[in-house]
Amino acid sequence: MSLYGYAAADAATNCICDLRSDTLTKPSAGMREAMMAAPLGDDVYGEDPTVTLLEQELAARLGKDAAVFFPTGTQSNLAAVMAHCGRGDEMIAGDRYHLYCDEAAGVSVLAGVSMVPVASSEDGGLDPSRIAAAIKMDDPHYARSRLLSLENTVGGRVVPLERIEAGVRVAREAGLAVHLDGARLFNAITALGCDAATFAAPFDTVSVCLSKGLGAPAGSVLVGPDALMGQVRRNRKILGGAMRQSGILAAAGLYALEHHLQDLADDHRRAARLAQALGETGIGEVSSQTNMVFLTPPEEAHDRLISHMAQAGIKIGGQSPAIRLVLHRDVDDSALDAAIDAFRSFPPG
Ligand SMILES: Cc1ncc(COP(=O)(O)O)c(C=O)c1O
Repeated sequence: MSLYGYAAADAATNCICDLRSDTLTKPSAGMREAMMAAPLGDDVYGEDPTVTLLEQELAARLGKDAAVFFPTGTQSNLAAVMAHCGRGDEMIAGDRYHLYCDEAAGVSVLAGVSMVPVASSEDGGLDPSRIAAAIKMDDPHYARSRLLSLENTVGGRVVPLERIEAGVRVAREAGLAVHLDGARLFNAITALGCDAATFAAPFDTVSVCLSKGLGAPAGSVLVGPDALMGQVRRNRKILGGAMRQSGILAAAGLYALEHHLQDLADDHRRAARLAQALGETGIGEVSSQTNMVFLTPPEEAHDRLISHMAQAGIKIGGQSPAIRLVLHRDVDDSALDAAIDAFRSFPPG
């Protein structure tokens, strides 16, 4: 029996509820069945019908010519940058964006592309004036500015479409290509209530992850124009990401698009509920959008809070000073109740 008498803890980990990330989701029973039943072939020969179906489905939904299936979002982003930029070129990205902060500078290490970080605003967007200031003039002393890479959602926040469009205009006027890291694109369009093609329209290429809130065990898809996607497929080979019977993974993505997409709204509803409950506890500053809640406790309480929650079978933590709490399909209402009760019982310092 858990401390709070809610859902039985996972016997192996004593974990009732894991709020660290939506990447922790495990495939649902229906998804596992779909994976087992998927028709397969060798995708490097272009013969895996399930991969082809997933690529066609996402290209159509996002209103682009073609798509390529990748094992990870990191590799999908990198292959896109390599298709847009050559060695010695430069890309502009937000200073809080995953591509800049959390992908081990792969674009520099492997593709010889330098990154210019632009301060991202509170809403995660980049001010057009800052983008303009980061674009270099064509001069042999300088790296060539080739690409603007945006992200949406950013830390759970949806960057408004007008903000995106204003930044993209500046990039286009200077002849730059534009990529979107849309790892959580489906969270963004769920919150905005717009369709995926409208959301993807300003960009040349868009990377979408299936392994986060959608609950697939792996997989990202890069969509873009025919003219670029041959190079993208070649880049995937260079990076070692061309897989064989990968339809077993693509089937999970197709299943998620058909059966899990509509559940993202429940994650957002639960995040809003958690944010409200946390606000009432007074433990710290709280902000929230889509499926993420950020809680900033006083410095002295940070580690104590993480231990207190762990004792109650609730995993949180990993960041400081703000702790990111992520709602996802493996946190149901009863697990959330347990988490809220554990937060409420946190003794003030
Ligand atoms: C915004 C964003 N982009 C890209 C990625 C990379 O995805 P992956 O972990 O599949 O490489 C992540 C992963 O968390 C992410 O949050």
